[in-house]
Amino acid sequence: MVWAFEAEGLVKRYGKTTALAGIDLRAERGAVLGVLGPNGAGKTTAVRILATLLRPDAGRAAVGGLDVVKDAAKVRRLIGLTGQYASVDEDLTGTQNLVLIGQLLDLRTSDAKARAAELLAGFGLSEAAGKQVKTYSGGMRRRLDLAASLVGRPDVIYLDEPTTGLDPAKREDVWTMVRALANDGVTVLLTTQYLEEADALADTISVIDHGKVIANGSPGELKRVVGGQTVLVRPSDPAHLDAAGAIVAAVAGRKVESPARGVLTVPVDGDAAFTEIVQRLARDRIPVTELSLRLPSLDEVFFTLTGHHTKEDAA
Ligand SMILES: Nc1ncnc2c1ncn2[C@@H]1O[C@H](COP(=O)(O)OP(=O)(O)OP(=O)(O)O)[C@@H](O)[C@H]1O
Ligand SMILES: [Mg+2]
Repeated sequence: MVWAFEAEGLVKRYGKTTALAGIDLRAERGAVLGVLGPNGAGKTTAVRILATLLRPDAGRAAVGGLDVVKDAAKVRRLIGLTGQYASVDEDLTGTQNLVLIGQLLDLRTSDAKARAAELLAGFGLSEAAGKQVKTYSGGMRRRLDLAASLVGRPDVIYLDEPTTGLDPAKREDVWTMVRALANDGVTVLLTTQYLEEADALADTISVIDHGKVIANGSPGELKRVVGGQTVLVRPSDPAHLDAAGAIVAAVAGRKVESPARGVLTVPVDGDAAFTEIVQRLARDRIPVTELSLRLPSLDEVFFTLTGHHTKEDAA
């Protein structure tokens, strides 16, 4: 099968730092691959290699069957990249930025203008189109950045942490856009630090740590490994912590964590466990101020997969 993009055994070192230690990533045409990892895991390095901006020290990567080193120029015609840090020109307007990119991609000026207007409208930026980018909010810049990567109608698009720093409403806008792209048959590589985001968008998730894939699969498969959801309990009276912890541990059959003082969390496989925890807490008259069922955070995913926390990692 010709993968939309494929990386095999990628290694990249910066002096003594091994950013990538032999990483494999691949996606079928029209699929969304979520690359989930904490700060410094190697996400941006992998994206830069797949985008022909960086050469690997070992391994190979291809887009549409074309090698990113040997056929870099051809690969660039297939891809769009939204970097982790804004790549648009602050002194130009939204329209000028997109038209300029269109011209660099050899579009006729009239076509570049039409494409710019279409994208600005699609990202809710029509009103701001004539304003200099330096007057934009962070969320508007992010959206302009995404629009910029779509000017050339790429087959494959790399979105490097596209929602980091966005408020929840803007995050939803980006999610909607990613889904629309995938529906159009565009292949998406999305890096993120949020399991929730990968779960919402990705067909396959690769969890990476220290430049290695430590888990790979569909969101469903991954959730089966790390526990589908997390129960959080905060007893009203800290004196009840041990008793509550014993209940939670017994029902979940997993080790209970205390990510913050007075709070207990544990991964569970389904909401039946949640119901049982609620019932047992009530039966033992343990009042709570907080009780919730949610997807695990990246940190909890890491703890389950590796036995250590993302923050310990950085230290
Ligand atoms: N140009 C560089 N020179 C030296 N070290 C680098 C360089 N770029 C990245 N690194 C190191 O390589 C490792 C991987 O970095 P990378 O930027 O790929 O991680 P990331 O997963 O994108 O992190 P973040 O979530 O913070 O964006 C880190 O240890 C980083 O410090
Ligand atoms: Mg990065």
